[in-house]
Amino acid sequence: MGVTQVPEISVGSCDRTMPVIGMGTAAYPTPDPDTTKAAILEAIGAGYRHFDTAFAYGSEKPLGEAIAEALRLGLVKSRDELFITTKLWSSFAEKDMILPAMKMSLSNLRLEYVDMFLIHWPVRLSKEVKKLPAEKREYILPLDMKSVWEAMEECKNLGLTKGIGVSNFSCKKMEELLATAKIPPAVNQVEMNPIWQQKQLREYCNAKGIHITAYSPLGANNTKWGDNRVMECDVLGEIAKARGKTPAQVSLRWLYEQGVSIVTKSFNKQRMRENLDIFSWSLTEEDSERIAQLPQKKGVLFADVIGPYDISLELDAEI
Ligand SMILES: NC(=O)c1ccc[n+]([C@@H]2O[C@H](COP(=O)([O-])OP(=O)(O)OC[C@H]3O[C@@H](n4cnc5c(N)ncnc54)[C@H](OP(=O)(O)O)[C@@H]3O)[C@@H](O)[C@H]2O)c1
Repeated sequence: MGVTQVPEISVGSCDRTMPVIGMGTAAYPTPDPDTTKAAILEAIGAGYRHFDTAFAYGSEKPLGEAIAEALRLGLVKSRDELFITTKLWSSFAEKDMILPAMKMSLSNLRLEYVDMFLIHWPVRLSKEVKKLPAEKREYILPLDMKSVWEAMEECKNLGLTKGIGVSNFSCKKMEELLATAKIPPAVNQVEMNPIWQQKQLREYCNAKGIHITAYSPLGANNTKWGDNRVMECDVLGEIAKARGKTPAQVSLRWLYEQGVSIVTKSFNKQRMRENLDIFSWSLTEEDSERIAQLPQKKGVLFADVIGPYDISLELDAEI
């Protein structure tokens, strides 16, 4: 099987281009580190150059090991052929904890810099949080946007990351951030797929020059945070059949045609290749129109992940 050349695009204030499709590393149930490492090496062999990790996923260390091994094996010639995204965990979303958290992620990854560092969620979790959903409402706090973003900017200015951005930010949260940001966020990584198309947020981000990366592009099929609403959508199934593709490929191709980048996870050798085979064909206008008409439903809810408190319900209601 050949190596797919994944197109790269410029993303706002980031100092380097981003491969439009990346391999996610949030796996459910959490696999042992060797499984994650082997899947990442397999993905590099298939052509993936963008990897999406986070402190919270526990995948930084196996990703770091896989990168070191890929360089040793000559699968990539130098580290700068790879685009690595990691995220600031909400327990560290406080001014003085951000630089140490960035350094801890770099140490886990065995890297001198990452390519993208994102604020994982628009909330802070207090030190008392031992598990999620959080046991008490008081453990979930709003972000001090100005000071948090200043510390993110410092990480970029120190050369520890090529780009900074956010994740799971609504238009309202973006507005709050942009009011004081000196470096605008390059990326907002959010749930996006044919069943949650994010039309308003995309319009807002386009107008501000902020790039959207789509996570859970397959509806996070077979995970605790997702379901089969994308993979078993009749319309996607019909389009897939007509094009000789799979529903997963139709969803990914649709996202690519919307001009967003994508992070999708498969640790399966065939499926990770299937997910890269989206560049040599296209959807028809009629296909796109049918997808645009699909009923919309948000899949990943803060209320489920951090607890059904007023602050999570407010975040879920924001567009
Ligand atoms: N910023 C955030 O808050 C956030 C939230 C969620 C996810 N993410 C990131 O986005 C990445 C991707 O999202 P996700 O993992 O939630 O969901 P996803 O990519 O939509 O779906 C992953 C699931 O689909 C399966 N799958 C993959 N390709 C398939 C195919 N061609 N046919 C059938 N099934 C397929 C995978 O299983 P196999 O591995 O067995 O193929 C896995 O169970 C994550 O890994 C993570 O890096 C970020």
